[in-house]
Amino acid sequence: MRFVWIFRVFFISVFLNGTCGDRGNLKKFWKPCFVGDQIENTCTDPSNSCHGKSDKQFKLVRLEGVKTGHVQWLEVDDGRKPVKLITRAMTPLVLVVISLYVEIPDFLSEEECDHIITLAKESGLQTSTSGYFTYDGDLDEELALADSDWTLAPEQAFAGNYSLWDANGDGSIDAQEVKAFAGKHKQLYLDDEEVQEMVKHLQINDELRDGRIKEQFFNKLNINKIMRYMNFLKDKSPRHRFRFSQQAWLRQDKTADPVLRRLHERVIRLTKLPRRIVQGGEPMQVLRYEKFGHYHGHLDSTIKDPTVPCCHQNHLRAPDCRVCRFITILYYLNNVEEGGETAFLIADNTTTTPDEIENSKAATNEFNLSINCHSANLVLPPMKGTAIMWYNNFIDPDSGLLGAVDRSTYHGGCDVIKGEKWIANNWLTAPTKYSKHIKSMFDTGFD
Ligand SMILES: *[C@@H]1O[C@H](CO)[C@@H](O)[C@H](O)[C@H]1NC(C)=O
Ligand SMILES: *[C@@H]1O[C@H](CO)[C@@H](O)[C@H](O)[C@H]1NC(C)=O
Ligand SMILES: *[C@@H]1O[C@H](CO)[C@@H](O)[C@H](O)[C@H]1NC(C)=O
Repeated sequence: MRFVWIFRVFFISVFLNGTCGDRGNLKKFWKPCFVGDQIENTCTDPSNSCHGKSDKQFKLVRLEGVKTGHVQWLEVDDGRKPVKLITRAMTPLVLVVISLYVEIPDFLSEEECDHIITLAKESGLQTSTSGYFTYDGDLDEELALADSDWTLAPEQAFAGNYSLWDANGDGSIDAQEVKAFAGKHKQLYLDDEEVQEMVKHLQINDELRDGRIKEQFFNKLNINKIMRYMNFLKDKSPRHRFRFSQQAWLRQDKTADPVLRRLHERVIRLTKLPRRIVQGGEPMQVLRYEKFGHYHGHLDSTIKDPTVPCCHQNHLRAPDCRVCRFITILYYLNNVEEGGETAFLIADNTTTTPDEIENSKAATNEFNLSINCHSANLVLPPMKGTAIMWYNNFIDPDSGLLGAVDRSTYHGGCDVIKGEKWIANNWLTAPTKYSKHIKSMFDTGFD
């Protein structure tokens, strides 16, 4: 559970730091959006800039999921041939509630994909912040501390025990045994290259001249330094972090690039949602994953009390808000040489439940797609131009607006093994029954 909580916090922090900028005219809001009826009393004055038009017909829709593998056709743009929508409809234990994934090959043309990548590069990519860890440690500074102090902290004392390293007891430690030690005693999973890099960096390659560390050398080694190195990798190095990618945000409003605006119209056709909803979506996020890049299993919407305001409508920046992303559309912008799949941990599996995944003792591993990519129930390899779309929330049956989070949408990006991976995300945020009349902060004028 703790693990799940960590990424809930993570989402909010990313959202607030990353995209809730200084928007809107605060003076015009006469009541804060906090909870429940307070939200309902916010922005009700039509002259307020945070007020959204709320005609009675305003409702969310979900595409009809007919059955797994069902194919529909969609006219994307006038003059372009229709594209295929392949739906996977989920009819799990509760028949009324249907989860839905849609796969759309050729939703973007090759040129459009390349163009979006170029725009992202031009706008500058930044390393995605990940939870509590930022990649700002200095390894050499850290290691220098160990030069003057070889003492192992009590909880690391075991590392001074030669026989824990020499697993096969043959009187020497080889690279495989270093790997095994890190995995077993530090839960740090290194590959051969990383072991080589470590012995080089720590300058113990002399002892390893014949690929082995004998006990007499071991006794002369600064084990504290080795432990610091391993701890650093665990906490700070991209490969071992929860998320490893770089990102850029691209606007899609009226001043935006024509390709992105055209795509915006296409999304309206695809989702059949009111224009206002699509306009209120977040700017397009473009992500680049290098080798080992990944994003472990997570949800795109926050699970929180429904009376907590949605972040995209949090004009007064209440300290507590939740991410209300009704739909995710993920675009694959390139073909990846190897790896980089999008994995849905549960998808349409009727026997695995979200409870099981969240509460399982092995939760950390279930969510760790570096290990468990291929045991996920739906694994979609990157294919340039393909879009995948899913609904993170159900529709509230009373109001027709944003309902509960669908926890069968746990998903993430598997490790890129070879090459690099480029994707883009459109997150279509939506109001709840409490906040129907509040404009999305991202709705900055499209027409
Ligand atoms: C070192 O590890 C071995 C193998 O696990 C164990 O039998 C031994 O008691 C340990 N020695 C010390 C001093 O902790
Ligand atoms: C996930 O597994 C990989 C490979 O085993 C490991 O290196 C990494 O530290 C793990 N990450 C987390 C967040 O548990
Ligand atoms: C559902 O997932 C579980 C665990 O991943 C697996 O053992 C089971 O075979 C899956 N069932 C179906 C119908 O796919």
